Amino acid sequence: MSFEALHTDMHSHLIPGIDDGVKDLDTAVSLIRRMGALGFKKLIITPHVMSDIYKNDRKTIHDGLEKLKQAVSQAGIDITLEAAAEYQADDGLLGLLENGELLSFGDQYLMVELPYFSAPANLNTIFFELQLAGYKVILAHPERYNYWHHQFSTFEELKEKNIFFQLNTISLSGYYSYPTKKMANKLIDAKMIDFLGSDLHNHQSLKLLEDAMQEASLNKLMTSGLLKNHLI
Ligand SMILES: [Fe+2]
Repeated sequence: MSFEALHTDMHSHLIPGIDDGVKDLDTAVSLIRRMGALGFKKLIITPHVMSDIYKNDRKTIHDGLEKLKQAVSQAGIDITLEAAAEYQADDGLLGLLENGELLSFGDQYLMVELPYFSAPANLNTIFFELQLAGYKVILAHPERYNYWHHQFSTFEELKEKNIFFQLNTISLSGYYSYPTKKMANKLIDAKMIDFLGSDLHNHQSLKLLEDAMQEASLNKLMTSGLLKNHLI
């Protein structure tokens, strides 16, 4: 199989040196070449924005994207590159909203991730404020939040509030944990997944992505007609 039908990957950390993703330009270029070989035509790169660790803003992200685009075109790789961000749902996020600093992609899609130890107490407020401002909120890798593994109703409530879900493809191979894989499959079976993302950080995650391509559940999701990757 290939990712050609998906067209666009909308979650990766390929701008060198600005988050926990790719460290240098050469690695970024070689990973982008490999993503092209897997069938992707467009990559929306989404550096972390966290108010305490990764204080990226429009400038760090756009400057990094421009350098990367130049290197990719010099390497003769034919792929479209864009950038937005993966925002941590922390205290800084509503401040960025207020200041008009948020980077969205496609039709006003905004990608938000949650901490791995517990969901923010004001999560509903954060999502509501973002939606009120016109953003379509995508929750990054819902299958990875262990604190919701025995609380499926939370996912149903979020879907009722028009929150979009982005699954990490590598969750399907059991890379993170067996419960994460199980939840990934449950969300697919419940037809709750709207986007598929690589969450690519390095060569190891690309190898895991290739391994996940063998999973029957991936084929099921990609032929479900539910994914919106090709629309962005
Ligand atoms: Fe990510």
